Amino acid sequence: MPTISVQSPTKPVRADAVVVGVFSGPGGLQLAPGAEAVDGSLGGRLREALVAAGASGRPDEITKIPTLGLSDVPLVVATGLGERTEHGETFRRAVGAALRAVSSKARVHIALDAPVGPVVEGALLGSYAFTEYKSAPAATALRTITVPGGSRAELTRARVIAEAVNFTRDLVNTPPNDLYPATFAERVAARGAKAGLEVEVLDERALKRGRFGGILGVGQGSTRPPRLVRLSYRPARARRHLALVGKGITFDSGGLNLKTVNLTWMKSDMGGAAAAASAICAAAALKLPVRITATLPMAENMPSGSSYRPSDVLTMHSGRTVEVADTDAEGRLILADGISRALQDGPDALVELSTLTGAQLVALGPRLIGVMGEESMRDTVVAAAGECGEDAWPMPLPEHLRAGLDSAVADLQNVPGERWGGMLVAGRFLQEFVPADLPWAHLDIAGPAYNNGGPRDYTPKGGTGAGVRTLIATAERLAAG
Ligand code: BES
Ligand code: MN
Ligand code: ZN
Repeated sequence: MPTISVQSPTKPVRADAVVVGVFSGPGGLQLAPGAEAVDGSLGGRLREALVAAGASGRPDEITKIPTLGLSDVPLVVATGLGERTEHGETFRRAVGAALRAVSSKARVHIALDAPVGPVVEGALLGSYAFTEYKSAPAATALRTITVPGGSRAELTRARVIAEAVNFTRDLVNTPPNDLYPATFAERVAARGAKAGLEVEVLDERALKRGRFGGILGVGQGSTRPPRLVRLSYRPARARRHLALVGKGITFDSGGLNLKTVNLTWMKSDMGGAAAAASAICAAAALKLPVRITATLPMAENMPSGSSYRPSDVLTMHSGRTVEVADTDAEGRLILADGISRALQDGPDALVELSTLTGAQLVALGPRLIGVMGEESMRDTVVAAAGECGEDAWPMPLPEHLRAGLDSAVADLQNVPGERWGGMLVAGRFLQEFVPADLPWAHLDIAGPAYNNGGPRDYTPKGGTGAGVRTLIATAERLAAG
């Protein structure tokens, strides 16, 4: 990651490019506050030049103006902010789009008077690139980003958040032949240890001893055995304890109910576990005064002679039995075990996130996180998401959906006979494993975790890191309240 520092606006800017903001006001394009010095060096003609180049100020519009030796900085990069707004996310997105457009520059100055947190997060998220598997990576030259102001604490917080999101992206983007339960567990454990967390990794033998029937059942078809990672952050001053649980399916083929569609994005099926692991590490780096435990079940869902079958009955960690009606509804099986394990530590609140259903994409589209659960916790999470700039929407868990989960042979089945309301049904299944009086939320990030389209704002193609910022913001709320 590039370094971030403060460059006082009164000193001359040394950079290869300077980013300015432009609004699309009713009277046409307007320079956003912060651009005065650059504009001055160009004789006050920056707006005119941008209009001549066709800029309108709409979001995700980047216009580059060379300064032809008139200014200290050779290139001005104007990024569209849309209509005048104060919302941090507008700046986060616009700065992200600008940084994606200047990846060949070593030093970039951001001449924007805006909340420094979103500006720095946007810059660090927008300049992300996953080049691990390129034999000749396009040189990302970016080394230093300067901003016009901000305290050390603000810069550190933004960097910690961006590092957490980018670590999640790296994990999701890593191909499933290299990232499977054992290696995923190793990477998460190493990161946790570095963050000063207590780390525990259960291998397949420990999972058997612990009777994790859901995790073992889903993982048994793969040559790569499952894992359960537990990370624990225990600050001295904590009054409350938040449990995080994340789905860690390193590749979801569907199992014997083999998928026919969407297979190419199923390496993202561990995005929930990656986000939870990243968020707890960030909470430790930020020294949030709240105890957090992350429980991360990891398995690969594969078809083979040893796979679990439709009709199998699994005895879960909680002791409940579940009939497998569909091996492709594997997430809820490993999550039920993860939730049961998390509850044994007696948390005050539980937040679980997972790339759980294609129905999330049908209901809310590719970008909106679906949030379900106990209503006050659900609404806390939705509010936290709004504050940190993630898109989330509250969804219900209708009681009438419970009947569809009745099984003729076991306590429950993992899918009903009907497919309607699939996102809610999955949430309702998980609810069976949560005590009625616990504040809990379930986040379905199936679509948001992975960007199948082109890059936009600070969002690259591939892994997005969805959910990380919302989890951190939720933990901050719990720490404060
Ligand atoms: N991992 C998938 C959900 C998913 C679908 C994530 C598309 C990202 C994009 C999950 O395990 C799954 O297969 N769900 C099934 C559930 C069904 C069998 C009830 C689905 O959504 O089709
Ligand atoms: Mn599946
Ligand atoms: Zn899955």
